[in-house]
Amino acid sequence: MHRAFMATGTALGIAWAAQQGQAADDLVVAEFDGDSYAPWTAAGDAFGDGPARGALPGQMSVSGFKGKGLVNSFRNGDAATGVLTSPPFVLQRRHLSFLIGGGANAEKLALQLLLDGRVVRSATGGNSQPGGSEDLAPGSWDVADLAGKTVVLRIVDDATGGWGHINVDHVVQTDRKPAGLIRDAARDVTASHRYLLVPIKTGAPKRVVTLSAGDHVIVRNDVELAPGAAEWWGVMDVGPWRGQSLRVTVDKLPEDSSGLASIRTSDTVPDAATLYREPLRGQLHFSPQRGWNNDPNGMVYFRGEYHLFFQHNPYGWAWGNMHWGHAVSRDLVSWTELGDVLMPDVYGPMFSGSAVVDWQNTSGLGTDGKPPLVLIYTAAGNPTVQCIASSTDGRTFVKYPGNPILPQVTGGNRDPKVLWHEPTRKWVMVLYVELPGRGHTVHFYTSPNLKDWSLASVTDGVRGSNYLYECPDFFELPVDGNPRDKRWVLAGANTEYAVGTFDGTRFTPGHSRLPGQRGKGFYAPQTFSDIPARDGRRIQFGWFQTETKGASFNQSMTLPLVLTLTSTPEGPRLAYNPAKEIQSLRQRGRVLRNVTVGTRSTDAPLDLGEAELLELSAEFEHGQGSVEFVVRGAVIRYDDERQEISVQGHKAPAPRRGSRQRITVFCDRTGLEVFASDGLCYVPMPFQPAPDDRHVLVRAPGGPRRLKQVALYPLRSIWHQPR
Ligand code: FRU
Repeated sequence: MHRAFMATGTALGIAWAAQQGQAADDLVVAEFDGDSYAPWTAAGDAFGDGPARGALPGQMSVSGFKGKGLVNSFRNGDAATGVLTSPPFVLQRRHLSFLIGGGANAEKLALQLLLDGRVVRSATGGNSQPGGSEDLAPGSWDVADLAGKTVVLRIVDDATGGWGHINVDHVVQTDRKPAGLIRDAARDVTASHRYLLVPIKTGAPKRVVTLSAGDHVIVRNDVELAPGAAEWWGVMDVGPWRGQSLRVTVDKLPEDSSGLASIRTSDTVPDAATLYREPLRGQLHFSPQRGWNNDPNGMVYFRGEYHLFFQHNPYGWAWGNMHWGHAVSRDLVSWTELGDVLMPDVYGPMFSGSAVVDWQNTSGLGTDGKPPLVLIYTAAGNPTVQCIASSTDGRTFVKYPGNPILPQVTGGNRDPKVLWHEPTRKWVMVLYVELPGRGHTVHFYTSPNLKDWSLASVTDGVRGSNYLYECPDFFELPVDGNPRDKRWVLAGANTEYAVGTFDGTRFTPGHSRLPGQRGKGFYAPQTFSDIPARDGRRIQFGWFQTETKGASFNQSMTLPLVLTLTSTPEGPRLAYNPAKEIQSLRQRGRVLRNVTVGTRSTDAPLDLGEAELLELSAEFEHGQGSVEFVVRGAVIRYDDERQEISVQGHKAPAPRRGSRQRITVFCDRTGLEVFASDGLCYVPMPFQPAPDDRHVLVRAPGGPRRLKQVALYPLRSIWHQPR
């Protein structure tokens, strides 16, 4: 492509090209990728000195522009006004095309083409309502009648209120008619197969894709709809509408996009052959087949299965379109993903929540003597409310027709965790509520039937500290396993917690907040409800923030963790240990007892061999210096003097237990989980080892070191377990 200002074409030249039926090369008028607007000139304060690189402070994310920059008149906010003017140039192609976004106001927010000072063409942005999108859309003018004329472009921002800005990029002279946008493009698809497949390309402009049956909107999602070849396919189970005609509508579809046309139904999923074998797929950690996950939700043991629901975006690599995904396991280790059970509805997207088995059918949602499994979730629309859904088979879930069961307290209320409190024979709900003036609080509600709730108490921060932000969990644990010494634990999404007492209505913490896990990329954990008494464990999964760029899936869950309360000189503290079920993944290992690492003259490492997925553990007495593990390139070092562990440079206190320390490391393709100090120190750490580095070593910097035991177990993948 040539730069228009340097091009020397003439009107005659264009006429000739047109006669020959040839399309001449496009001429770029402006790309707005540099530091300044030159040779364009800006007046006023809406445009600043040069192009923006995307969104400006306080602006929603801006997409749809080309290259590094764009014109964005949100500089200094919506109130600022100004004009940006091009130098004169000659029209040498049939069309002038551009990308445009921002507010819709033909008079005050416009890209204008001027001939002799008169406006001969004009275009504006697409947003007239609050909300909307900062996505730039293609636009063009047929300028054949102005061929050979010298013109000027002007971008005007004379608007000051909401959506008082305009975005422009990539102005090009072209002979090929640029594709326009079709509004509300629709197609009818018969649900003749089980799945509806939606083509996705991560990074493509988001389109609002609505699926409806007759007048009933089934679901509406924001989808990075692939304009051409799909990078991956979003999969929706349309089994419930089998045989019916469904309408798919796309809010803005470029004329040349194949995104709507290629939506189809199928009984198979396109990625079946590679699923769970993808190079970046965590092999020890649950992750959704496709799309994004965040918080674990609705964790419950029901009819012989562990149920793991999760915050799921089935149609995007990043957060959005919150559904509840669903997977089940009989052993906590290998999981079968069953498909989404809660889809966004008129109350909003499906945010986090919990699940309980209503053994006595207090809710009346059970049938034929079967107790219902009840999901309690946040519908995060406006207002944001709490709702329930139920199932008697653990497969099909029905939203309760009487929803919502709790009206909005404030817009920042969410993540209900419900439990049965036997002494008062009531259901208790802990709900995160952001209260103006009081910050983050937890509201305690009680109910006889999961449907009618009354406020029982509100935490005042715990001891004044407003740390309990989002996703509260609340459970009782014995101290050191002693059934006569039980305490209540109230924890927030970042795992900080308090230990205290609970009388069925009010939690009284024994101290101010305590730190939970000590690593990175761990958030919003939840513990299982209804684990049988004969097991009695408090089992937790956290959201493990293991980013997998370029994959069709993103994020995962941690290993199953068993939480206990362990006495320490400072009082009882939470300990995290890997659930024993993970041992079922062990393959033939190497166990060394009473080995010495290094000698007085060399610090030669102890080479433990190679493994891809692995569990490494070492036990040693107090000594000099440090013990260091190199696990597939990751460095985990225990400093004996400081009683501190460092995982990839991230430090955490790891007190000796008596005279002894024991460290266990799990390594997957996407992360490490390190346990020390009998679980009092748990350090999760997202990490991607180089695929060909499988080496595992132990070193003893600072002198030879005797280890009571070192064990390395290669592990099997959780995805290929015999069921
Ligand atoms: C925590 C959280 C919750 C919310 C959910 C939405 O990660 O922000 O508070 O319910 O994610 O996906």
